[in-house]
Amino acid sequence: MQDGCGRTIDYLRLSVTDLCNFRCRYCMPENGVAKRPHGDILSVEEIVEIGRAAVACGITKIRLTGGEPLVRRGILEICRGLSSIDGLHELCLTTNGSSLSQLAQPLRDAGVQRLNISLDTLKADKFAQITRRGTLSDVLDGLKAAEAAGFSDLKLNTVLIGGFNDSEIADFVALTREHPWEVRFIELMPMGECSLWDEHCFLPDSTVLKSCPELQPIENCGVARRYRLPGAAGTVGLISPVSHDFCGECRRIRITSDGKLKGCLHSREELPLRGLHGIELEAAIRRGIAQKPPRHHLTDGGSDTPRDMNEIGG
Ligand code: 5AD
Ligand code: SF4
Repeated sequence: MQDGCGRTIDYLRLSVTDLCNFRCRYCMPENGVAKRPHGDILSVEEIVEIGRAAVACGITKIRLTGGEPLVRRGILEICRGLSSIDGLHELCLTTNGSSLSQLAQPLRDAGVQRLNISLDTLKADKFAQITRRGTLSDVLDGLKAAEAAGFSDLKLNTVLIGGFNDSEIADFVALTREHPWEVRFIELMPMGECSLWDEHCFLPDSTVLKSCPELQPIENCGVARRYRLPGAAGTVGLISPVSHDFCGECRRIRITSDGKLKGCLHSREELPLRGLHGIELEAAIRRGIAQKPPRHHLTDGGSDTPRDMNEIGG
């Protein structure tokens, strides 16, 4: 359906947990987040029920996010339930990749069609430093397992951090020469843990084009402006929530792991969906879509949300 600004909303980002086995410095505090009581988090049945209602309201694509969705108990059951909804065209998942060696094939079998894998550095020591507790080789093994399971059009999400991984831009881009992947550079958004980081950490996406002037523009896809190295198997995407806000083309809504609908990542407004069923649940989702805010205010006042990224799901 259309929102109040005439945008078609057909994409739901659904967070299944705010927990994560990593502690990326820009996203989570060192000691993690307090585990919510079990009952505060949507059950598998509630998630599938909400998915079904969202599809009845015009959603055709669902992306599962976290925290880290693969630490959620029942994740395969959730995927099976959602992927069997009539009218859902795409079920995708964003993961830190650390458990894909075990889970890539089961996820494929449960109906997940596409994976986005977060990877901010290709160097083992820096990987341990930024994630505080991750191991690069686990993610690289996970990438291989994902390909072997049939996820051929993988997307890698790399958050650009000045002074940390800007020296690796060319290495990330070079991955696309042989792999049919999309390497996506995402501007670091000043929110939660990194909202007070020094200015030099926040790089505009133009940094990528300066590092790799041979990149040639190709057709855009969703919120990503896309490029390709001549002759490369894969593509490069730039996602620029800060320098080119894409609010006018935004097609998404979000649901947090505790069952609140958010029209915008950065907005304070949340619409509780728990306890609603059938027509009432659909009506609440339609209301949330209708009230989706026109834009965010990252460049004029900052994010309004009191939540950290791990609670909303990227
Ligand atoms: N700015 C940009 N991206 C972020 N992510 C987490 N926090 C931020 C931030 N402040 C990204 C993660 C992952 C996705 C879920 O969101 O790196 O790719
Ligand atoms: Fe976990 Fe992703 Fe946050 Fe890193 S960015 S701590 S992998 S939720």
